Amino acid sequence: MCKVYAVASQKGGVTKSSTVLNLATALGIMGKKVLAVDVDPQGSLSICAGVNNPDKLTHTTYSLLNAVIDEEKLPEPNDYIVPCEKIDIIPCNITLSVFEVNRGHEIGCEQALRTVLEPLKEA
Ligand SMILES: Nc1ncnc2c1ncn2[C@@H]1O[C@H](COP(=O)(O)OP(=O)(O)O)[C@@H](O)[C@H]1O
Ligand SMILES: [Mg+2]
Repeated sequence: MCKVYAVASQKGGVTKSSTVLNLATALGIMGKKVLAVDVDPQGSLSICAGVNNPDKLTHTTYSLLNAVIDEEKLPEPNDYIVPCEKIDIIPCNITLSVFEVNRGHEIGCEQALRTVLEPLKEA
């Protein structure tokens, strides 16, 4: 059974990224299959998990959310999920910083992440 946990706070420096990386890695070491989804334009989770140059990636949380809102077909999971040491990650970069301004008013935008994750729960 798949469980989804969100670690969120508007305040910076309260150890959101550290918590997610440590918790996800611990679960990975315990043999759980873990997908961490970076939803922070700082991309610190992606960088700390070992993703090389997240700024150079085509597929990120931002591109996936945009694809959902634009009703485009999502890429294959292998094209956007980056395997790291003990976990997999959907990386993020600075492009996400404009998402709320550009797309935040669009109907259904608050459901977009759910739409990205739903088909992955069975994988
Ligand atoms: N257990 C801890 N004790 C002390 N400092 C920590 C601990 N965990 C993380 N930090 C430090 O706190 C700072 C902020 O953590 P970070 O995870 O980047 O926060 P956020 O993602 O909320 O902005 C980082 O410098 C990190 O190294
Ligand atoms: Mg962070």
